[in-house]
Amino acid sequence: MSDQASSQAGSGARPMGMASAEGTSTENFVQIVDVVKKFDETVAVKNVSLSVAKGELFALLGSSGCGKSTLLRMLAGFEAVTSGKILIDGEDLATLPPYRRPVNMMFQSYALFPHMTVEANVAFGLKQEGVPKAELKDRVHDALELVQMGRFAKRKPHQLSGGQQQRVALARSLVKRPKLLLLDEPMSALDKQIRQRTQIELVNILDRVGVTCIMVTHDQEEAMTMASRLAVMSEGSIVQLGTPHEVYEYPNSRFSAEFIGSTNLFDGHVIEDEPDHIFVETSDLPSQLYVNHGITGPLGMPVTISVRPERIALTRKPPEGAYNWGRGTVSNIAYLGGHSLYHVKLDSGKTVVASVSSLALSEIETPTWGDEVYVRWSASAGVVLTS
Ligand SMILES: Nc1ncnc2c1ncn2[C@@H]1O[C@H](COP(=O)(O)OP(=O)(O)OP(=O)(O)O)[C@@H](O)[C@H]1O
Ligand SMILES: [Mg+2]
Repeated sequence: MSDQASSQAGSGARPMGMASAEGTSTENFVQIVDVVKKFDETVAVKNVSLSVAKGELFALLGSSGCGKSTLLRMLAGFEAVTSGKILIDGEDLATLPPYRRPVNMMFQSYALFPHMTVEANVAFGLKQEGVPKAELKDRVHDALELVQMGRFAKRKPHQLSGGQQQRVALARSLVKRPKLLLLDEPMSALDKQIRQRTQIELVNILDRVGVTCIMVTHDQEEAMTMASRLAVMSEGSIVQLGTPHEVYEYPNSRFSAEFIGSTNLFDGHVIEDEPDHIFVETSDLPSQLYVNHGITGPLGMPVTISVRPERIALTRKPPEGAYNWGRGTVSNIAYLGGHSLYHVKLDSGKTVVASVSSLALSEIETPTWGDEVYVRWSASAGVVLTS
């Protein structure tokens, strides 16, 4: 996976890094090489290899217990690897004493010291390091300005909103000028609205500081909003790695397709496989499935076709094409303003979800519950999944 991992550097919003003049590749700023972590019987992290570029904001994503925090804790040096190694800026983490590790981690619960002011909270780590007073004052001031919390310097944490506390915690991490910032569920304490605003603020702040950041989240929207690349983890392994766009548009497995966004999955088997298309027979639809790219596999091979809800159109009349359509009745409608999610129960019993714009709905006299409708999609809408 590692070769693929480092070569998939895509078109994220942030710089992907280039080989620098000094000869240390900024593309491999963080190198995780075949890392395994066992806790007695439990294998929490299984042979993970991953490279993160300098200045990148990388997200680790996956369901509870899949090993995200464990991987992050090893990067921070709080846990030793069972095997494999971790290099940061070319240096093996295992050989660096804790005080020389260029890493700062903000924990899943980022508890501030309640009895200390905002200022004292941010200064705490520097004081412990013995940073001279004048420098300490300047650095704390700069860090608080960066997160726009300067005017709250004298307040105590309980006098701040959740989002403000979160920014103080971030200032406390950044003030130490880590080369690598690790964030474990940085937004978990925030409600949805502040969360979305803070996500964008955080990306802007990290961009300004230019710090490399690896963050853990189990919220796929958060990962897609913030990260230049992300890794989907399951049971200790990386299942897929790429830009948010790559992972969303080209999931490589059922797990990825369902984890990143919602999708419709049709199970079937290949009945024709050419370089530029395949036909798949499925009991879910009255028609065959047709996808405009081939796969390499034997005829009869079981596959799953993933079709995102926004790729599915609704019609009142039977579609003309011979493939990629089904007939059913509207079983549920979720009105979301600009678009609606239509659940259509097909004759086969399968329910298909279509995300349809209000404009497109008005053109077919907005169907309602119980109406007979057809769903259809183009040959380029489906992604063939073989695992
Ligand atoms: N110190 C430990 N001793 C034993 N098992 C552990 C320890 N820490 C983690 N584990 C186990 O390792 C696995 C991965 O845990 P981890 O905390 O990395 O998950 P996570 O992906 O961060 O989950 P969450 O989203 O719930 O925070 C889990 O099965 C967990 O029970
Ligand atoms: Mg965790």
